[in-house]
Amino acid sequence: MRHIAVTVNGTRHEADVEPRTLLVYFLRETLGLTGTNVGCDTSTCGACTVLVGGQSVKSCTMLAVQADGEEITTIEGMAQGGELHPLQKAFHEHHGLQCGYCTPGMIMASDSLIREADGPLTESDVRLGLEGNLCRCTGYHNIVQAVLAASQEMRAGSSA
Ligand code: FES
Ligand code: FES
Repeated sequence: MRHIAVTVNGTRHEADVEPRTLLVYFLRETLGLTGTNVGCDTSTCGACTVLVGGQSVKSCTMLAVQADGEEITTIEGMAQGGELHPLQKAFHEHHGLQCGYCTPGMIMASDSLIREADGPLTESDVRLGLEGNLCRCTGYHNIVQAVLAASQEMRAGSSA
């Protein structure tokens, strides 16, 4: 076992983990943060996407021990003070989900995409940026519209 310390959604956690434990299972099973989903385990679907040090990472591709000392954000950490994050609001308003299984990963990947962009995102930026996140329900159109809407709101908010 290896001892690790991580900060998840602003709370510090220490735990002994097996070196083979994937970050996604540490989040779900040790910390009980089940908003991060497992859709494939082969780094294909993106349902497990979280932020590690502010950057989106497929948490089935990372070992928990590799996250030692990191700041992690999961979908449970996106709403603040009882207010949905702009991406959560936009997915709701633009009907960017059906079953919702891919949605946490879509939102975490989109957050990183928007924050790392040099300027306003175009539709093709969003489609390219989210190509590692699969959705088997929506056909993607409403997801793209939601991300574009949230991108505008987040950029307006950050320049206010
Ligand atoms: S569960 Fe991680 S990419 Fe599918
Ligand atoms: S909403 Fe069902 S997988 Fe995307």
